[in-house]
Amino acid sequence: MALDTAIQTPPNFDVPGPKPAGHVCHLHYAPLWRDLVEQLPTLEGRVIDVGCGLQPYRKLLGSKVTEYVGVDRAGPLSHPDVEGDALSLPFEDATFDSLMSTQVLEHVVDPRKALVSMARVLKPGGRVVLTAPGTWPAHEVPYDFTRFTRWGLEVMFSEAGFTDVKIAAQGGTWATIGQMLALEVNHHSPFRLLVPLINRLFGYLERSSKAREDLVLNWLVTARKV
Ligand SMILES: C[S@@+](CC[C@H](N)C(=O)[O-])C[C@H]1O[C@@H](n2cnc3c(N)ncnc32)[C@H](O)[C@@H]1O
Repeated sequence: MALDTAIQTPPNFDVPGPKPAGHVCHLHYAPLWRDLVEQLPTLEGRVIDVGCGLQPYRKLLGSKVTEYVGVDRAGPLSHPDVEGDALSLPFEDATFDSLMSTQVLEHVVDPRKALVSMARVLKPGGRVVLTAPGTWPAHEVPYDFTRFTRWGLEVMFSEAGFTDVKIAAQGGTWATIGQMLALEVNHHSPFRLLVPLINRLFGYLERSSKAREDLVLNWLVTARKV
């Protein structure tokens, strides 16, 4: 499938991706986008995007990709090339060279089983780039089941059959507090005007403080199939 397929987005849907400094989700998307811009062009061969949604990050894949297959359940906010469940991906073993999955693992009822399913469809040595939340309000309910820690992700990836597991925080304590505050303030009309100020203040604190990971907004995981 061509990499540049245009996808129609539903009206009023805020497509995932980089957001301006005054946007209510700026603190979340800034590190997420930075990391995906760095990581996704390194994937190669046949790539599966598990829980692809509207395929917002497909455009970041590079010239080493020979085929892209977005997999998701059918729905108004998904545009799968193949309909399927992350828990039992509808492909033969060792079909893909690379796998990407962004902000999906919290929505599957059994993330361990999903990771085993992802490992199964990857060839030995195949690479994974996955992101998942550490802290975020409930969303896509009732399909919102869990949040992750560095230690939980390490164990789950290792047990599912991945090696070289590297985990990086996408937003530490200040970014997390700022993002939660911005989201809450945004619900209350007169205070909404404070969002750009909150972004600027907590963005500055995040950049200028020693990175602490007591609270983490989001995680980037890169790994290889054993
Ligand atoms: C928060 S959205 C993320 C979409 C896209 N990856 C992105 O980053 O914009 C979560 C996606 O996971 C999909 N999803 C949830 N459970 C799934 C499952 N069991 N199998 C496949 N996709 C699933 C949803 O349909 C939705 O498209």
